[in-house]
Amino acid sequence: MIPRTKIDEIVDAARVEEVVGEYVNLKKRGVNLTGLCPFHQEKSPSFSVSPSKGIYKCFGCGKAGNAVNFIMEVEQLNYIDALKHLAERYRIDWPQQEVSPEQLLKDKLRTSERESLQIINNFAERYFADLLINDDEGKTVGLSYFEERGFRSETIEKFKLGYAKESWDHLTNAAHTGGYNLELFKLGGLIKENDQGKVYDAYRNRVIFPIHSVSGKPIAFAGRYLIQDPKSPKYVNSPETPLYHKSNELYGLFFAKQAIAKNSLVYLVEGYTDVISLNQAGIENVVASSGTSLTEGQIKLIKRFTDNICVLYDGDAAGIKASLRGTDMLLEAGLNVKIVLFPDGEDPDSYCRKIGPLAFGAFLDEQRQDFILFKASLLIGDAGNDPIKRAELIKDIVSSISKIPDVFKRSTFLRETAVLLKIDEQLLISEANRLVRGNALKQPKLEESQYLQTSTEQELLIDSVQDLQLQDVQEKDLIRVMLNYGDKPYSDEFVSVAHFIINEISMEELEIEHPIVVQILSIIQHQITEGSIKFHNLIRHEDPIITEFVADIMSKDIEVSPNWHKKYDVFIDPVGYNFKEDVDSSLLRLKIKHVEKLMKQNQLELENFEKIGDMDQVDIHVQVHMHLTQKRHDLTRKIETTITR
Ligand code: CTP
Ligand code: MN
Repeated sequence: MIPRTKIDEIVDAARVEEVVGEYVNLKKRGVNLTGLCPFHQEKSPSFSVSPSKGIYKCFGCGKAGNAVNFIMEVEQLNYIDALKHLAERYRIDWPQQEVSPEQLLKDKLRTSERESLQIINNFAERYFADLLINDDEGKTVGLSYFEERGFRSETIEKFKLGYAKESWDHLTNAAHTGGYNLELFKLGGLIKENDQGKVYDAYRNRVIFPIHSVSGKPIAFAGRYLIQDPKSPKYVNSPETPLYHKSNELYGLFFAKQAIAKNSLVYLVEGYTDVISLNQAGIENVVASSGTSLTEGQIKLIKRFTDNICVLYDGDAAGIKASLRGTDMLLEAGLNVKIVLFPDGEDPDSYCRKIGPLAFGAFLDEQRQDFILFKASLLIGDAGNDPIKRAELIKDIVSSISKIPDVFKRSTFLRETAVLLKIDEQLLISEANRLVRGNALKQPKLEESQYLQTSTEQELLIDSVQDLQLQDVQEKDLIRVMLNYGDKPYSDEFVSVAHFIINEISMEELEIEHPIVVQILSIIQHQITEGSIKFHNLIRHEDPIITEFVADIMSKDIEVSPNWHKKYDVFIDPVGYNFKEDVDSSLLRLKIKHVEKLMKQNQLELENFEKIGDMDQVDIHVQVHMHLTQKRHDLTRKIETTITR
């Protein structure tokens, strides 16, 4: 835990205009600053910074937050690391954690082992890279190999490619001369020891691909052979070390992370050379799984940056079928999975070189297809008219679909697959429901409401999602009102507007659904009980999700587009006069939404009772319906009289 005071110190020091200004060319416009948004491609500036509020907001892509949110986003760091980054930038001491002496010693040893390993890895990276560029053997063997493959010198430099000489002890000697501890080289897998206790270089006569951590440090090495040799492996790879856990790393991620965030898409390829080729072609949002299917750790890593993955498959049929299996895990993680197939015998690297970067980019865009639909069409070709095979195929595809956590995406896929395979949609739905229930037993987090029974229920669910979004707007508006006038007096009875709103919510039993709104309201409620409301503290809250949310709302009066009112169905009042009307109408809208929600629920229940013929219940529900309709009418009238503009 970092002390609250430390967080405040950092957030106070980190002036948003300074922090953003290091990444974005900002120009003054009125009291605010504007520039080109670093988070999406744009030609005219819609990115705005408000020094007085301490926030930024892009009116193009919607990203908003304070200085910490900005660093998290632009550097792709987690909250703590972003704070640390800012602490370094502003020379604020980072707190040392209080831990037991034993733990401290253990941690120290572990850290120092990792730190020492990092030092020898840095050394080895420089050593290999130097040989490639400056050593005669390195140049004639290694460099010419890369050149033959079409790697340009800036690419070789960027990926820190290197060469290991045809020698048993060249690295060992260099380590000796450098005064390094050989044990560390053994631990890092750079030097090996035979049964007789003799040490020797692990990488010999190979070109070297350093593997970098997310933050760009060399943590492992892969050495590719230069001549095909059935006796030795194509790649020599680093073992697991305290620095390198293969299943939690992705080759190329350091170079890709900003492009992934910017394009909200990552390309997944198999090999190191594919990553490098695509980078050379200007496609930077690419990572490699290094020849195996992705692990859960790697998928988590991807999810930190994007939900959209596009898998580039080699064009041979056996390869495709093998990789189909690994893909369910991606679906299960909630990723949107697209694929691109290459012509037989081509991989991304070879094909990119063959047709050139421009055509290659176009190829990726044109050939990208949805994974599920691809799988369906691939398998249907195999099954032909054989009914047993077709039944298996349906099971197979529905099983993939049922892995998708999002109920609406699932139902869309079921519909599309039904059309594609010319099968009754209902059949697919019931099969999927069976499987989803099975999956749900394994992972209890799915709720009953997520099972789809009939397509009318699906439609109702879709309706209710749209409602939820509307509800979202109303709930957010309430927070806007809170932030703008929360500490103003509402009436004698209520000390403040904030007090009044909180009271209304509990009196009218208004259900707030947006989790962040709930959280903010409870913070405010807490402050009311403590007797001091500190709204400005919300933008410095320790939860970056809250600051992002608050910044988004605070930015609403930075720049108001003419359509804003229409788009959000709320009234804004930049000057703040007549704030009571604003407060009242915001609450009224929330109440109307609440009544409408009750009406929908009632309607659903009514239909069910009708179906089973329980007419007493039907009567009761009709009464409720009429009552609610009247209530909605009254509220709407009230809004009309409140807003006298
Ligand atoms: N791989 C490995 N060990 C092997 C073979 C492959 O670790 N013996 C991994 C590497 O990460 C490699 C990826 O699988 O990059 C894909 O293999 P392949 O396509 O054979 O290698 P490329 O790196 O693409 O090399 P090239 O195109 O030069 O054959
Ligand atoms: Mn290859």
